[in-house]
Amino acid sequence: MEKTQAYIEAHKQRFLDELLELLRIPSISADPAYAAEVKRCAEKVADFLRAAGADNVEVIPTKGHPIVYGEKIIDPARPTVLIYGHYDVQPPDPLELWDSPPFEPVIRKTELHPDGAIFARGACDDKGQMFMHIKAFEALHATGELPVNVKFMLEGEEEVGSDNLGIFCESNKEKLACDCVLLSDTSMIANDVPSITVGLRGLSYVEVEVTGPNRDLHSGVYGGAVANPINILAKMIASLHDEEGRITIPGFYDDVEEVDPEERALLNQAPFDVDAYMADLDVQALFGEPDYTPIERTTIRPSLDANGIWGGYTGEGAKTVLPSKAYAKISMRLVPHQKSDKITKLFSEHFVRIAPPSVKVKVTPHHGGEPAVVPRNTPEYQAAHHAMKQTFGKDPLPMRSGGSIPIVALFEQVLGVKSVLLGFGLDSDAIHSPNEHYGLFNFYKGIETIPWFHKYYAELKK
Ligand code: BES
Ligand code: MN
Ligand code: MN
Repeated sequence: MEKTQAYIEAHKQRFLDELLELLRIPSISADPAYAAEVKRCAEKVADFLRAAGADNVEVIPTKGHPIVYGEKIIDPARPTVLIYGHYDVQPPDPLELWDSPPFEPVIRKTELHPDGAIFARGACDDKGQMFMHIKAFEALHATGELPVNVKFMLEGEEEVGSDNLGIFCESNKEKLACDCVLLSDTSMIANDVPSITVGLRGLSYVEVEVTGPNRDLHSGVYGGAVANPINILAKMIASLHDEEGRITIPGFYDDVEEVDPEERALLNQAPFDVDAYMADLDVQALFGEPDYTPIERTTIRPSLDANGIWGGYTGEGAKTVLPSKAYAKISMRLVPHQKSDKITKLFSEHFVRIAPPSVKVKVTPHHGGEPAVVPRNTPEYQAAHHAMKQTFGKDPLPMRSGGSIPIVALFEQVLGVKSVLLGFGLDSDAIHSPNEHYGLFNFYKGIETIPWFHKYYAELKK
């Protein structure tokens, strides 16, 4: 690995410049107006893969945004690592809260990133983290030190549910045959506390519409006698939690895994300062089930949150209206062994049931996904552990994450392999938020660590 590490050291500045190029492309998968930019980004990723030495590089069209594929098969007898990442990004809104434009990357120092961090939409999630794999591969290939076969599958629809990637996996099982999937689309605990993600939450996402009167009304003429759908919706949403923060939907917790005390102790080993957490968010108190620590509430326990709520008049000044309709988007994060479809159904039935006779309710399910757990007694987990130990100088801790990557459960189901969640971002990197950033330390550490993963994996699979 010496040549590889020397190669990385010698090409650091170019690696960064190339990532900045990728970050300048607004590949916003959710907004159809940006479809051409998403495609342009896919082409750019394919160019980088080719330049890094990958063979059979293709930009594969789908019903949505394209999938970029490439591979290097050095020896069919060697293990094969399928590298997954996504080049699409979340919409950057609200734009006015960014300190610099989201698609004009700049490097600034922060308290947690004294060496500097790249500020741009997608810097961490997931262009920066995906790009580490292309550069680690380039270094291994250029120095003749690549110890495994690699296949790259990089998608442009992760942020909108990966529907077409699921279909692609189903119909390309042979092409994608591999021994494990490796991805960096998660976080680690801190720059001096390396960790490997061993669990992801699943997701159920619904939109609700509450209809009161058949038209908007004068709130003076009708107010007091006609139910206001916004008032009703607010009350319905509020009733979804009890006083202690438990979700009140009947049956919601039926399949929730009771994590054993040993694993809970391990999860709570991660350094966590409640006061610093509250100070960072500028809140005076936290929320949630009293029998679980904040770490547990966001990882091994399910959650329910309104993501948006609207209706009536929200413009300048006052308009006295009793609106006809009110809406909300609601997400539920799921844990093993909850099933997305079942939870969505329980939610829908409950929400319709609790609606008073004065309104009509419609629930529309959006994309969902299953939770995932990663076992630690596998060659891939061990390889990741040794790789991080090598470059950080200490044992990484196993950690569960509260986020969701629905495709991970699908990899196991369709391709029959486990995934390794080797992320280098920090939870404080503001992914999906204004001023998303990714530390230069993290970017380079990832590029240095990934080659060790491949080396240890090749050895452990012998
Ligand atoms: N990379 C994130 C998921 C993530 C974030 C995992 C932080 C671990 C730590 C991914 O891009 C994402 O945002 N997923 C969505 C779900 C998807 C179906 C839109 C999410 O978690 O909201
Ligand atoms: Mn991501
Ligand atoms: Mn994301």
